[in-house]
Amino acid sequence: MGQVMRVPTLVTERLRLRQFDLGDDAGLHACLGDERLLRYWDCPLSRNIQETRGWVRQLAKPATPAESMAWAVADKASDECLGMVNYHHREAGNRRLEIGYILRPDHHGRGLMSEAVRALMRYSIDRLQMHRIAATIHPDNAASIRLVTRLGFELEGGPLRDYWRVGDRFMSPMLYSFIADR
Ligand SMILES: CC(C)(COP(=O)(O)OP(=O)(O)OC[C@H]1O[C@@H](n2cnc3c(N)ncnc32)[C@H](O)[C@@H]1OP(=O)(O)O)[C@@H](O)C(=O)NCCC(=O)NCCS
Repeated sequence: MGQVMRVPTLVTERLRLRQFDLGDDAGLHACLGDERLLRYWDCPLSRNIQETRGWVRQLAKPATPAESMAWAVADKASDECLGMVNYHHREAGNRRLEIGYILRPDHHGRGLMSEAVRALMRYSIDRLQMHRIAATIHPDNAASIRLVTRLGFELEGGPLRDYWRVGDRFMSPMLYSFIADR
């Protein structure tokens, strides 16, 4: 299983990316319980706050950074949970990983997720020595495509046929990547 650790806190101008705690259930549910937001996401809608609490309990556990890690995206002043960023499918030998992100709708359009993903990219490159950062994105997910494009990702290929299984159906996302200059 490898090393287990607490998620390191990453601070940006307006945000604190930190370990999840059990009090983040309402904030995370504003994301995972929102049907429109989950339309292009790779796991099923959370049907109620109890279901989201199950996720929060998992996310609040110490991380296994060799493969994946998830941060609560919290407002720096109030510490309220506004969303999540994570990496997964990390392969240290190949110096690559994939990222995911979600933000509650009442905070969209403020550049907050750009700020959070930028911090995750910095951490991945500077601390984890990653060279390639990938994101798989549904072709109709315009907000997400805008976000990664603004951050320097390029469309690399796709659709990756039936790459995500979401409940009882499959989805075919596009592949975007960012290559660090070292
Ligand atoms: C993808 C998602 C996080 C994007 O949220 P967002 O708030 O639009 O993202 P950003 O942080 O990039 O915000 C950018 C917008 O804020 C505006 N903005 C305001 N202040 C800004 C600032 N200081 N810096 C940057 N953008 C700013 C920009 O003009 C931009 O608007 P535009 O997209 O119309 O050009 C959100 O739509 C989401 O959670 N979707 C569901 C989950 C999902 O699909 N995740 C991705 C899976 S692949």
